[in-house]
Amino acid sequence: MSKRFVVLAILLFVFSAVGTAFARSPVFEVDHDLYPFYPSLLKWNKSPAEFTPPETCKGCHPQQYEEWTGSMHALAFKDPVYQGELNKGIKEVGPEIARQCEGCHTPAGVVTGEVTGAGHEGLSSMAMAGVSCDICHSISGTTHWQTPSHEPENGSMILTPGYGTTEGTKLVKRGPFTPSENCGMGFHECEESSLHLRAELCASCHQVYHYDRHFPLESSYLEWKHGPYAQNTVLCQDCHMVDIDTFKKVADDFYHPKREEYHHYFNGANFLLYHLAAEAARKAGDEKLAENIQHKYEMAVERLQAAAALELSPVYRDGRLAELKVRVKNIRAGHNLPTSLTNIRQMWLEITAKDADGNVLMTSGTLDENGQIVENTRMFNSEGMGNDFHFAIDPWVVTSFSRHDTIPPRGFKDVYYGLPALEEGQDIAIEARLRYRQADQKVAEALLSAVPEDIDLEKTYGLTEVPELPVVDMVTEKARFAQSE
Ligand code: HEC
Ligand code: HEC
Ligand code: HEC
Ligand code: HEC
Ligand code: HEC
Repeated sequence: MSKRFVVLAILLFVFSAVGTAFARSPVFEVDHDLYPFYPSLLKWNKSPAEFTPPETCKGCHPQQYEEWTGSMHALAFKDPVYQGELNKGIKEVGPEIARQCEGCHTPAGVVTGEVTGAGHEGLSSMAMAGVSCDICHSISGTTHWQTPSHEPENGSMILTPGYGTTEGTKLVKRGPFTPSENCGMGFHECEESSLHLRAELCASCHQVYHYDRHFPLESSYLEWKHGPYAQNTVLCQDCHMVDIDTFKKVADDFYHPKREEYHHYFNGANFLLYHLAAEAARKAGDEKLAENIQHKYEMAVERLQAAAALELSPVYRDGRLAELKVRVKNIRAGHNLPTSLTNIRQMWLEITAKDADGNVLMTSGTLDENGQIVENTRMFNSEGMGNDFHFAIDPWVVTSFSRHDTIPPRGFKDVYYGLPALEEGQDIAIEARLRYRQADQKVAEALLSAVPEDIDLEKTYGLTEVPELPVVDMVTEKARFAQSE
């Protein structure tokens, strides 16, 4: 080999080494030592102290137990819609994605290694209990600054149910109070925790990111943080851990609830799941539980019906009625409306315009005979797309939004509808409804048909097929406008 060639080879080697050194580092660095349950960002201070199922807490805290029972947190892992989607995800991505999902839907099941896939068979009551007492009250801190996105995401919290001592294990439960003498009555120690009086307690689970690309799929926490309620120190707890009358006062006047006004309801918008769970309780012959969940169903409907307002006004052009303007206002949601699973939830405007004889002149936003929303309907939600920039729904595919059209807290969106010309002197009657349902009919059918085999929809819920999904009318407004100005 000639000398020159060797020099060239060395130079090439050096340049290629430099080339690697300057290669782009990934946008999201993942510290796998910090996050042993990745893609869930949960952390567990492992000790001989075990997690305690909610039935044990019930003995001394019956009121909190009653309120939590049948809540979305109690249902987070049992939820058949969730189980269907999880099962689909495992089939399409592989079993490791389950850790990400379960890290929020049943955190104790993930860290102990008990839950590894979809289904309910043979699981302990602690795993089945989803987001239970001993999840929230064992949270000793968060790693919100260290996450790949440097935001709260995918369960970025630390669970410390207790610790081992030479005299045996000690359980520690964290809460809002300065511990009283004998707090926990020997069963657990108490620790005052300011985290439990902040929205950051909820943030780790209410910021859902793509398991790999760290794209924010659900952003209730950040929507809240960047809005007027956060600025007025109105927390998630202040709207979701109180009854409906108190929630309205909180939203309207930035009222701060008194300690005794807090309840463990965690009530949101998902009336469909309460409906299913109440049916299941009735079918199992547990009338008391059915009533408990029915109450939560009613709260979710009332919450939705308190969240928005509509304003109708006419637009005249050259003295003649040309358009209808509808202003849709988010008056009481502490985050965008709708929030969270915005690419699945459906909120839309239905408009009917009639002449004086009741003849329909124009409609928009009606449902067809298959329960599908007709084309050209004004929807307030989002549409997901995958890496190929094509439409997608599943959370392991969606890596961006092609459209994101939700209404910010205390904000509004205006929609204009062209109206047909009428004869001089005639009136036009308008009815506008803002409607809401959990999902598109076909999407719900696809998810429920994917539930794992050990979940029997007919036996548990009495479902032989997916019935037409219920719709809640959030607000209805009527008006009459003259044809001429
Ligand atoms: C999603 C998190 C979460 C879950 C699940 C949860 N709690 Fe709480 N808990 C809280 C928060 C937040 C507070 C503080 C509320 C406040 O400001 O008073 C609290 C307060 C408490 C208190 C103090 C007294 C009170 O009610 O304010 C007790 C006792 C308690 N919880 C027990 C329980 C029990 C028992 C369960 C299960 C049946 C449970 N918690 C489930 C978040 C949770
Ligand atoms: C960071 C926490 C977190 C992670 C990770 C997470 N979820 Fe969720 N999930 C939530 C929260 C919070 C909600 C409730 C939001 C809402 O109601 O819009 C939810 C709701 C859902 C729902 C809707 C249930 C219903 O009854 O309408 C489905 C389905 C679901 N998740 C599936 C999954 C799957 C599958 C994964 C994993 C690929 C996953 N989730 C990962 C927190 C999480
Ligand atoms: C043997 C009875 C007993 C059991 C079982 C029990 N607790 Fe307690 N706990 C108490 C007593 C007593 C207090 C203090 C008075 C109060 O706040 O109600 C307390 C206080 C608390 C507090 C408030 C702590 C603070 O400093 O703010 C929380 C949170 C709590 N318990 C959670 C739980 C959870 C979660 C479980 C189940 C894992 C549980 N407890 C089981 C008796 C018990
Ligand atoms: C360990 C993760 C976790 C924590 C912490 C947590 N949540 Fe949740 N939350 C969930 C999951 C998962 C669901 C959805 C369950 C489902 O849809 O099946 C949920 C559902 C809800 C819902 C019902 C949503 C609906 O569609 O009706 C509300 C409201 C809620 N959470 C509020 C809170 C508040 C307030 C806090 C803090 C005090 C909190 N959550 C803390 C995981 C969590
Ligand atoms: C000012 C009151 C208020 C505050 C503060 C608030 N919310 Fe809500 N939340 C609502 C209302 C009203 C709804 C029902 C309308 C909707 O879905 O947006 C709701 C709905 C939800 C839902 C259900 C979404 C679904 O798809 O079913 C979740 C989850 C939720 N909130 C979580 C949170 C979290 C987490 C925080 C704090 C970061 C928070 N909320 C703060 C009023 C509030």
